[in-house]
Amino acid sequence: MFFTSPARNNVRILVLFAVALGLIIPFTACNRRRVHDAPPSYGRPYLTWQNDPATTMTITYHSEEKPDSVVALYDIVSDPESYHFRAEGESWQIPGLPDGRYINSVELTGLAPGKDHYFRIGDGEEFSQEYKFRTLPDDNTPMRFAIGGDTLATRLFRDLIREVAAKDPLFLVIGGDLSYADGRFERIGRWNAWFDHWHEEAVTSDGRLIPLVLAIGNHETNDLDGTHEERAPFFFGFFPQGGKTYWAHQYGGNMGLIVLDTNHLVPHKEQVSFLEEKLQAYQDLPFATAVYHVPFYPSFRSFDCEYSVAGREHWLPLFDAYEVDVGFENHDHTFKRTKRLRNNEVDPEGTLYVGDGNAGVPPRRPKCGRWYMEKTAQTPHFWIVDVSDSEMELQALDRRGRYFDAVTVRSRAKHGDTP
Ligand SMILES: [Fe+2]
Repeated sequence: MFFTSPARNNVRILVLFAVALGLIIPFTACNRRRVHDAPPSYGRPYLTWQNDPATTMTITYHSEEKPDSVVALYDIVSDPESYHFRAEGESWQIPGLPDGRYINSVELTGLAPGKDHYFRIGDGEEFSQEYKFRTLPDDNTPMRFAIGGDTLATRLFRDLIREVAAKDPLFLVIGGDLSYADGRFERIGRWNAWFDHWHEEAVTSDGRLIPLVLAIGNHETNDLDGTHEERAPFFFGFFPQGGKTYWAHQYGGNMGLIVLDTNHLVPHKEQVSFLEEKLQAYQDLPFATAVYHVPFYPSFRSFDCEYSVAGREHWLPLFDAYEVDVGFENHDHTFKRTKRLRNNEVDPEGTLYVGDGNAGVPPRRPKCGRWYMEKTAQTPHFWIVDVSDSEMELQALDRRGRYFDAVTVRSRAKHGDTP
């Protein structure tokens, strides 16, 4: 018999091992190649807003091939086989991006405020599983959101997103410096990793996807001498938010949030009239807030940094005049909460500034002893913010899901509300 002696048994084992290895290696290599070519995030939807967050939602996903069409089926009732509503969108590519991916996006409009909506997205023939989101309220219903900045695709970012999602926010704001790809195509891997973390963790305890509101930071842009879209190809190409780097919406019935560009594509000075117009528009709301990348009141970098000075020169007088309630600042990679400030002085009736962009990037040790600081730390965090018609409660959440700081801002008398 061929396989009766120990030596022959050994030969048989070796042959079987070699055959198995021959089968396994190509299979593994094939799988590696597939994973490399198509990141796991392809096909998975994420959410932004181009218009009113109470009545619209923009759904986007990436694919290797161009779909015949981009179709979302949706309803306010979970019944994936018979949704009543249908919307069509479009596909585009980022010119010059070597992987040639398609970004497929559809905006849903005319939605019911403050309601869960269920959807599937696809090419008109095949559709995804059912997903869910919630529109923002348009009345005085209390609302929770999360805000931070400077994420990077780190384990730390992932831990923070997991803990944020467990707090069930209605949306999440990132104040610039997302994947640190610097608008460079060869760094697309950073975006793939960032999206992987986002898709894996950014689902609330009741299964909702969390819409993103994204401000621009210095790490969104390259050094090209080109159009805004060429200088920040991923910021515009991946995230439909109306096509500008500064805008504002009413987020819920109680708060206006103004998103600004600290001179990454648009100089401070060019946004002054826009800022004033929006602050006027939000005078009758309980709260007016702003988010931007480079802080007026830095916790690590110099107080005299060029863009911090520009912010205080061009925007701070309007923040003071219109009594902005909270400025959400970033870029310095620390935790900070300032004293209440007005006219560049401590004033109990002034604006609160919190930051400072420490939501995944390696944290820095804040500078001590600055006159405007109430509290600083090195702790990575997002702020969890609860907004009612009388108060904003801000709580700093760490990567273990613990709150380590809290502050309450009451709506000011100017609004004719709670003093
Ligand atoms: Fe930055």
